[in-house]
Amino acid sequence: MFTVTAARIDADDPLAGLEAGERPDPKAPDGWVTVTVKAASLNHHDVWTLRGVGIPADRLPIILGCDAAGLDPDGNEVIVHSVIGDPDAGGGDETLDPRRSLLSERYDGTFAQKVAVPRRNLVPKPAALSFEEAACLPTAYLTAYRMLFEKSGAEPGTTILVQGASGGVATALIVLGHAAGYRVWATSRGQAKRERAVELGADQAFEAGARLPERVDVVMETVGQATWAHSVRSLKPGGRIVICGATSGDAPPAELTRIFFTQLSVVGSTMGTRDQLGRLARFCEQAAVRPVIDRVLPLNQARDGFAAMIAGDLFGKIVFAVLARGATPRNPPVRFAPRCGAVLARGGDPPEPPGALRAPLRCPP
Ligand SMILES: NC(=O)c1ccc[n+]([C@@H]2O[C@H](COP(=O)([O-])OP(=O)(O)OC[C@H]3O[C@@H](n4cnc5c(N)ncnc54)[C@H](OP(=O)(O)O)[C@@H]3O)[C@@H](O)[C@H]2O)c1
Repeated sequence: MFTVTAARIDADDPLAGLEAGERPDPKAPDGWVTVTVKAASLNHHDVWTLRGVGIPADRLPIILGCDAAGLDPDGNEVIVHSVIGDPDAGGGDETLDPRRSLLSERYDGTFAQKVAVPRRNLVPKPAALSFEEAACLPTAYLTAYRMLFEKSGAEPGTTILVQGASGGVATALIVLGHAAGYRVWATSRGQAKRERAVELGADQAFEAGARLPERVDVVMETVGQATWAHSVRSLKPGGRIVICGATSGDAPPAELTRIFFTQLSVVGSTMGTRDQLGRLARFCEQAAVRPVIDRVLPLNQARDGFAAMIAGDLFGKIVFAVLARGATPRNPPVRFAPRCGAVLARGGDPPEPPGALRAPLRCPP
């Protein structure tokens, strides 16, 4: 089968270790099944793997990719939960199993025509979501769901600040938070990205580091070092930072004095459970939320997607369409128009602007 793998680690030039080529089909052990992958989405996790963060070199080569949507052996449309862990070993939460891993860390990942996963890791794909949309849910959207609805402690109507608006997790926080009734503020380094954030449902968007009109209840952090001081300064007394990532570095000054003096909480968050993924899928269906897709590329053009993510040239998720052997792509690479990720009216199929889907459009700059 055709696959995209991490063949070598290179901390400075992650693309140097990225390889595409044929690998043997996976063998599913007892209790596991083989899923035929239709679409898989790219996460910063895949870039970290190529840089050697979170994986020892002796696990390579390994097929990259945490997220997939596809068909189970009976032909059912499914979403793959990426966390390979035992809920019993984690007090009912597989993400707390000390031995848990994500697909592509210990077991081969989803950038392939087939992936083997434990049967319990399959969640039904809602009919309303395309395979490309469903493939965005297991990492970025599940992480955002847990940050918002489990870890933030914030009720709808309160104000949340999303740092670094353009990323996969950040755009998920904006569309899910808006749909759930939070007042969503966002920061981004780019003017065009700030405008897109508002189109998606952010109430206001600010330059990175800007003084805000008032302090917020919760800050959602994925950026880390570059935004940490601003996050701490932007909170009301008693407020909370929920952090799931540190793309720009993980050792900023801790701002300890301000944290204790204003009685802030810092809460870590990682992925979510299989059951939460099922609820997230239903939430997307019920609230007519669609994941924000920057572009869809055929899997054999994965390198272009990785390069865009490394350069920060994206808004939302990069998705790889996975074709069966011998199939020809319907279209060349697609860059999505604003409809993708729009929070749409409740009920029915979303209206599509003429030619917006599966036509080779470019996003506004
Ligand atoms: N704990 C978990 O379970 C979990 C799950 C998913 C992701 N993560 C982590 O969360 C982070 C984001 O993941 P992702 O997949 O959403 O990544 P992504 O799509 O590549 O997004 C990158 C984001 O980083 C911001 N950024 C990068 N460098 C920056 C800098 N120097 N200054 C300011 N902003 C910067 C960008 O904001 P702009 O809008 O300003 O360009 C953008 O929002 C990664 O570190 C990832 O490993 C963790």
